[in-house]
Amino acid sequence: MKGIILAGGSATRLYPITLAVSKQMLPVYDKPMIYYPLSTLMMAGIRDVLIISTPVHLPAFESLLGDGSQYGMNLQYKVQEKPVGLADAFILGEEFIGDDNVALILGDNMIYGSRIERILKASSNLKKGGIIFGYKVADPTSYGVVEIDDKGKAISIEEKPKEPKSDLAVPGIYFYDNQVVKIAKSIKPSARGELEITDVNKVYMEKGQLQVIPLGSGYAWFDTGSADRLSDASDYVKAIELRQGTQIACLEEISYKNDWISKEDVLKNAKKYGKTLYGKYLKKIADEEVKSYSKIFDNELFKKQ
Ligand code: DAU
Repeated sequence: MKGIILAGGSATRLYPITLAVSKQMLPVYDKPMIYYPLSTLMMAGIRDVLIISTPVHLPAFESLLGDGSQYGMNLQYKVQEKPVGLADAFILGEEFIGDDNVALILGDNMIYGSRIERILKASSNLKKGGIIFGYKVADPTSYGVVEIDDKGKAISIEEKPKEPKSDLAVPGIYFYDNQVVKIAKSIKPSARGELEITDVNKVYMEKGQLQVIPLGSGYAWFDTGSADRLSDASDYVKAIELRQGTQIACLEEISYKNDWISKEDVLKNAKKYGKTLYGKYLKKIADEEVKSYSKIFDNELFKKQ
């Protein structure tokens, strides 16, 4: 499966911060925002990623992430001249996608949770149709909103409904089979003039091929599109990282665990970050044995006498 990060748009809701800087380059606590969606694709096991942004901002992403070889990945870049909608990613990415399946993640979305990696890996193995997620929110009116049956099949999906049919918002991460390119080309711009991802999802839903995975309260999902939500995401990352001495969206760690880079590569990369927490963390994980705790219940205390 291939991956696309859509990191363009004008981010007017964050003015004046984003007057001269790309939103997806802003810090979420101690890392550039784009690290988070990139780490999500990496956790899904996706190595080939296309980063799409504006003509002005794309060069900054290239200079930040390069060709991806430092993470054992293949990163490519593509300009989106105008923000004509999320589904445009599949039209711009047609050549990159080729005959593969593809995951799209929005550059301002962040998902975190202890079992998320398993869910992402399973989703990237999809054989047919589309997989999206559903996340319960207090006010779903500013999101895509999905209604599901007891098997998780979508039965209705609407973009920013005034009267939502459910409280399940659709996070900005989507897994599709190769039909998505054709579907994206077939939809028409919405009333706000955009090629809506929700219209792509509707086509899959009407074919009975849109699976929804509800993410319960053990998961955190942030869309960092406003100053408040950006600050909430930063506070969340800070709280977890400092309390647990861990790192969220540590690209080298995920890559190392995926066996895409060696211990030596991790240490080489660590030098770049000097004495920062990120740099120290990389040195630590390279020196530590990775513990999986998979046998935790496999002892006599849990066996019937
Ligand atoms: O965050 C999840 C939500 O994202 C979903 O629930 C909605 O269904 C989906 O439409 C989308 O809603 P938003 O209103 O948040 O989309 P927005 O226009 O803000 O764009 C999301 C990100 O994608 C943003 O970082 C800018 C970037 N973008 C957007 C457009 C329209 C592009 O790079 N190119 C584009 O053409």
